[in-house]
Amino acid sequence: MLIPASTALIIILTHFSSSAAAASLCRTFCNNIPIRYPFGIDDGCGAAPFRRMLNCSTAAGLFFLTPSGSYKVQSIDYGKKTVVLYDPSMSTCSILQPHRDFLITDIQSATIPPSPDTLFLLLNCSLDSPLLNRYRYLCSSNFSAHSCDELYATCTSFKLFHMLSNSTASPPCCFTTYDTLRYMSMNILDCSHYTSVYNVDALKGVGPLDWLYGIKLSYSLPDLGCDRCSKSGGVCGFDVDTQGFTCICSFTTNATTDCGGSYVNRGGKSNGTPSVVGVAVLICRALFLSLPTL
Ligand SMILES: *[C@@H]1O[C@H](CO)[C@@H](O)[C@H](O)[C@H]1NC(C)=O
Ligand SMILES: *[C@@H]1O[C@H](CO)[C@@H](O)[C@H](O)[C@H]1NC(C)=O
Ligand SMILES: *[C@@H]1O[C@H](CO)[C@@H](O)[C@H](O)[C@H]1NC(C)=O
Ligand SMILES: *[C@@H]1O[C@H](CO)[C@@H](O)[C@H](O)[C@H]1NC(C)=O
Ligand SMILES: *[C@@H]1O[C@H](CO)[C@@H](O)[C@H](O)[C@H]1NC(C)=O
Repeated sequence: MLIPASTALIIILTHFSSSAAAASLCRTFCNNIPIRYPFGIDDGCGAAPFRRMLNCSTAAGLFFLTPSGSYKVQSIDYGKKTVVLYDPSMSTCSILQPHRDFLITDIQSATIPPSPDTLFLLLNCSLDSPLLNRYRYLCSSNFSAHSCDELYATCTSFKLFHMLSNSTASPPCCFTTYDTLRYMSMNILDCSHYTSVYNVDALKGVGPLDWLYGIKLSYSLPDLGCDRCSKSGGVCGFDVDTQGFTCICSFTTNATTDCGGSYVNRGGKSNGTPSVVGVAVLICRALFLSLPTL
């Protein structure tokens, strides 16, 4: 390889500035939370099935949008493919607040439902609740040996139920999975309050004061070819009209698979000749491959 150093430098700079351009079309952070595939906060970024699920504002932070409202995103774990949400209007061991249903769309329920280790704790259920009768089987009477009585006894917020109850027994409660709430609203379930707890597998011997309150979602996604695009320096996105996969290479170039090959123009037509960026990427690769021998 006999490329003058200055040319190589220009080519490298071209390559990196085009990656930077692609990255700036798609914001990679919302405050301190990294935003990566399959998520996107700018339209056309990320994977199409996850479109319009996140909303970012510097002042308020990152929110997960559902039909029942927006929920604050606490963290995203890209390795474990989980997202932890916190609903500030939910009751916890220390605050008692009126419930609102947690509803997600059909697409969300297919791509990013609450994880199996998230439990919903329905509290102060009426004796007529279907959960105490026909649908009794939907409740586990305890999890990791924790019981309703423990909640009513330990949590300052839930002690009220016990105090206001007429009999010596606390009002019934139910530990259940998200599916129960998905198919029956809180009004049908006839329980006045709820809270949700995640990482329940790790809560054996841990008291309610130390539980993790919130909702953990668990996402999955078929491989649409994002690896190949990112390895070529691109950012994975989708065409906002067709929802088809797009590899965003620079402000002016989008590719169907990766930034090393054929590009599509705005009109969506494919042209076989690699653009300047494509050539730069190819030369860069050749250069890097030849480095050990220099
Ligand atoms: C590339 O794709 C992104 C995401 O769909 C879009 O915002 C952008 O306008 C496209 N750029 C070109 C040059 O087509
Ligand atoms: C996203 O957040 C902005 C700023 O907080 C807000 O104005 C906008 O309505 C939100 N969009 C949705 C779809 O909730
Ligand atoms: C508990 O539920 C009953 C209805 O079953 C309701 O009347 C009562 O207000 C609830 N308690 C609290 C503290 O909200
Ligand atoms: C709770 O469940 C465990 C098994 O998961 C069981 O051993 C224990 O007896 C149960 N406790 C109550 C009070 O039902
Ligand atoms: C409370 O107990 C009294 C007397 O036993 C009864 O008349 C009343 O209906 C009970 N109230 C509730 C809410 O169960």
